[in-house]
Formats: sequence, structure tokens, C-alpha cells
Amino acid sequence: MEKLKHVIPTKEYESQAIDYIKEFYEYNSEINGSGGLDRYVDNYDGWLEKLENDRKCIPNEERVPAETYFLVRESDNRIVGMINIRLTLNDRLKKFGGHIGYSIRPTERQKGYNKVNLYLALLCCQKHGIDQVFMDCDKENLGSAKTMQALGGKMIKEYYDDVNSHCIVQNYIIDVNDSIEKNKDIYEPMISRDSKSISK
Ligand SMILES: CC(C)(COP(=O)(O)OP(=O)(O)OC[C@H]1O[C@@H](n2cnc3c(N)ncnc32)[C@H](O)[C@@H]1OP(=O)(O)O)[C@@H](O)C(=O)NCCC(=O)NCCS
Repeated sequence: MEKLKHVIPTKEYESQAIDYIKEFYEYNSEINGSGGLDRYVDNYDGWLEKLENDRKCIPNEERVPAETYFLVRESDNRIVGMINIRLTLNDRLKKFGGHIGYSIRPTERQKGYNKVNLYLALLCCQKHGIDQVFMDCDKENLGSAKTMQALGGKMIKEYYDDVNSHCIVQNYIIDVNDSIEKNKDIYEPMISRDSKSISK
């Protein structure tokens, strides 16, 4: 069984991180949860600086404190996914976006990695004292909807979004402590707790 971990982005991962984003362009895939890395492919150092600022920013209507992690596979140190966790919500994120955005690189999808990605994010939310996680997705995005459902996500609303995405959006809520308790036997064996893991 492959083990995965959330790792804080550092200089060491520069070429892998750029390669990760390029793969989304190559496969014409939506990029999500990258903490804006796609806008910094020519300025990785600037992106690391941005992530530092994201962590400690004072929440306002434009920005909220957020953490971005690479999802890294232990066996080959490959970045297989990313995740962006908003530690508080402003009105804009309450309407659209919620607490968490994520992605798995196109060549590593449908291996169950995003469910581990979300489980790890729930552990992070628990550490930050977030009891309920709000998330949303396009109804057609079965990979995302099923990830949330697998982790106990309950759909609380479905509506046509004529402002941002122009598609049917589903809003989900996850009870963090309950989800971790119910799912730990499944996901704990898939988590690497080596020295680089944020959950060590
Ligand atoms: C959505 C995404 C993160 C899913 O990643 P993934 O690693 O393939 O997901 P997993 O393998 O963990 O699968 C989670 C569940 O979704 C299902 N699933 C995954 N992709 C699917 C697809 N294309 N069609 C139907 N079901 C799918 C899996 O079978 C699994 O369901 P199960 O629990 O019933 O077994 C990935 O497709 C992605 O990065 N997409 C682009 C970015 C994006 O859309 N982010 C989310 C924005 S809301």
C-alpha cells in the first residue's frame, strides 16, 4: 500500500512543482488547490514568499489565512497532489470555494489519493480547531463529490451558479471530528509520518 503525506512547499521541490503544474496544462485539466502556483511558474521563490504571507494574513473580504501543501508519495517522493486549506471563511468563500481546494495530477488519478488528501486536510483542520468544513464542487465533478461523500460529506445545497462557474454547484459540510473518528482505520495506514510529513 502506498503511503502519502502533506509536505510544506520548499525550494527542494521547485522543479517537481513546476512539472506538476505543467502536467495540468498538458492534459488540459482544471488546476485547484495549488495556492496560486500556476501564476508563479516563473517565480517559485515569489510563490514560497506568497505562501508565507498567506499563512499569517489578517482575514478580510479579499484574503483569509490559508495553508498550502504538496501531497507527496513516500515511495518515490513524487508530488501527486496539492491542497489549499482556508483557516477561516469570509463572505465570498462562504458563498463559493469553502475551506478546501484540492487536486491530484492527471497521471495519478483514480487511485484513491484524493481521499487521503482530504483526510489529511481534516487532521489539519482539527489541529486548527475547525469543527465543520464547508466545501463545494461542480455537480459534474464526480471525483470531487465522491471524495467528500467518502469522508462523510453531507450535501446541504444544490443550485445553479450564474455568477462564477455557470454550472450546478453542490455545497457540502463535513463534521471534522466525526469524519476522522469514522475513517481513521481506513486512512491512517495510508499516511506517512516521516520527518517531512506535517502530521509526524
Ligand atoms: C477531483 C480530483 C481531485 C479527484 O482525485 P482522485 O485522486 O482521482 O480521487 P480518488 O481516486 O481519491 O477518488 C475519490 C472518489 O471519486 C471517484 N472518482 C474519481 N474520479 C472519478 C471520475 N472521473 N468519475 C467518477 N468517479 C470518480 C473514485 O472512484 C472514488 O470514489 P469511491 O470512494 O466511491 O471509490 C481530481 O480529478 C482532480 O484533481 N481534478 C481536477 C481539479 C478539481 O476538479 N478539483 C476539485 C475542485 S472542486
